[in-house]
Amino acid sequence: MMRDQAEDLRRMAGQRGPSSRIIAVTSGKGGVGKTNIAVNLALALCQLNHRVVLIDVDLGLANVDIVLGISPKYNLGHVMRGEKTLHEIIMDGPLGLKIISGGSGITELANLNGWRLDAFVASFEQLNREFDFVILDTGAGVHRNVTSFVLAATDVLVVTTPEPTAITDAYGLLKVIRQRAPETRVRLVVNMAKSPAEAEMVAERLNSVLREFVQWEVEYTGYILTESQVVRAVAEQQPVLLAFPSSMASRSLKRIAGILAGEDAPSQPLGIKGFFARVSSFLHI
Ligand SMILES: Nc1ncnc2c1ncn2[C@@H]1O[C@H](COP(=O)(O)OP(=O)(O)OP(=O)(O)O)[C@@H](O)[C@H]1O
Ligand SMILES: [Mg+2]
Repeated sequence: MMRDQAEDLRRMAGQRGPSSRIIAVTSGKGGVGKTNIAVNLALALCQLNHRVVLIDVDLGLANVDIVLGISPKYNLGHVMRGEKTLHEIIMDGPLGLKIISGGSGITELANLNGWRLDAFVASFEQLNREFDFVILDTGAGVHRNVTSFVLAATDVLVVTTPEPTAITDAYGLLKVIRQRAPETRVRLVVNMAKSPAEAEMVAERLNSVLREFVQWEVEYTGYILTESQVVRAVAEQQPVLLAFPSSMASRSLKRIAGILAGEDAPSQPLGIKGFFARVSSFLHI
């Protein structure tokens, strides 16, 4: 089977074990396309034969469940309260994608401590070996409920549009990541661009400000143009990658997934359990 072959290859490359890559898709400003990118990137990674779980850690309304047209009954809050096990709340998406809804659990996590927190974190132990990629769909901005997940991830994908306010907010968020989690691998995706050239200009503008003020740059990893098929897919509650596989957006998303999948695993693998322990420590600071 292809999956077994891929697994053997990864094992030989020393990238297996509890080393899930944890990629937070985030932004400074809201409404820039995070959820769309998170869902479709997760699916593109499934198409590349990776085992992927998508965790919705946004408290907002229109999220992963809307884009995929599924309605989660249970979320991480149920796991925290001991009402459900982690495996009972995992939902099946297309292409073998697994989905976990953060739901009310995201705010509850900030108040969780002692043995309840330990038990919650320990429940992720099993998942460590089950997934190659954890994709997090986060909220926007620099509030602790968002940044705790972003700072704890191994990889961050910051999404911006060419809009000046979106770029300014992306810069604000990047500064926070730079200061508080400098070891994080940070990438930039420009969404809703008019042309590849415009997207490249946005990336260059952002990087020139980062170079000047924080002596840093992010890796520009790709663009997605404004495209009517994305809007149609959202309206039909279908991921664009499946509804319109040959659209420009789908091709761009596959390219970005290929880049993410093609690089080495992080040098200090956290595992999903370690990740949630780290999130909790950021929430409690
Ligand atoms: N490449 C694109 N082309 C056209 N429209 C797009 C594109 N990307 C996103 N959109 C539109 O923008 C809307 C918002 O996208 P999405 O919900 O993914 O943003 P978000 O960053 O997750 O928002 P929030 O901050 O509210 O969670 C989508 O419903 C879609 O209509
Ligand atoms: Mg969203």
